[in-house]
Amino acid sequence: MKALNPIGVFDSGVGGLSVLREIRRELPGEHLLYVADSGHAPYGDKPAELIQARAAAIVEFLVSRHAKAIVVACNTATGVAIRMLRARFSLPIIAMEPAVKPAVTHTKSGVIAVLATSRTIASENFAKLHERFGANVQILMQACPGLVEQVEAGELSGEKTRALIERYVAPLLAQGADTIVLGCTHYPFLAALIREIAGPAVTIIDPSAAIARELRRRLESASLLSTGTRAGTEQFWSSARSDTTRAVISQLWKADVDLLYLPHVPDAPPD
Ligand code: DGL
Repeated sequence: MKALNPIGVFDSGVGGLSVLREIRRELPGEHLLYVADSGHAPYGDKPAELIQARAAAIVEFLVSRHAKAIVVACNTATGVAIRMLRARFSLPIIAMEPAVKPAVTHTKSGVIAVLATSRTIASENFAKLHERFGANVQILMQACPGLVEQVEAGELSGEKTRALIERYVAPLLAQGADTIVLGCTHYPFLAALIREIAGPAVTIIDPSAAIARELRRRLESASLLSTGTRAGTEQFWSSARSDTTRAVISQLWKADVDLLYLPHVPDAPPD
């Protein structure tokens, strides 16, 4: 494996771009490959077997593009597929960690909330969080159906998105939560709206920057940190031939991006 090789990053869709932007900030010289599995998003309501099969196929693809490390920029895929991925592939694989530990340290009210997909909340990793931290603080787990779809559609601030966030956040505030953890990589793109609805007294914790730092540590310890002196590049891939995906990636990445298609994505039907 070579230090100049790219880093592969994937998510069910565009959410992992919140992690990608922190990786770009932390590691400006690295080449980055991003796969949005938009043809199968959202993962949150799919069977675990399908998510595992998709995760394995995407990592296989990224390895075929010479990835030197993988970042699973998806809490849902982490919850159901990380053990299988680490058993199957030998390159460094960095995965999402819900930032419950910093939230526990930070809370004054003793009540923290985690926003995530239903599947993440049902996962074994999340059950362990209760065992680990539940004795000291109250952890409210809030599933947020519909929010991933809003971000996938680029709807970051409209009425429907606002109404969904109000529905999910209001009960948490009523129960005294003063710290909200974003447990899905799509949600940082809704952070401004969540902040507006939750008010200034509530702290919002996004684990993405910590994941990027962890990636740096892992590359360093494997002697895989890029030695290049030029700015790194990004390539964006999708499993859906969709103008919306390209437009939303450009919106969230704040640059006009070219979107490539994974092998086996059917051609667009003729006009
Ligand atoms: N970004 C994914 C996560 O972090 C969204 C999952 C989904 O597609 O439902 O969980």
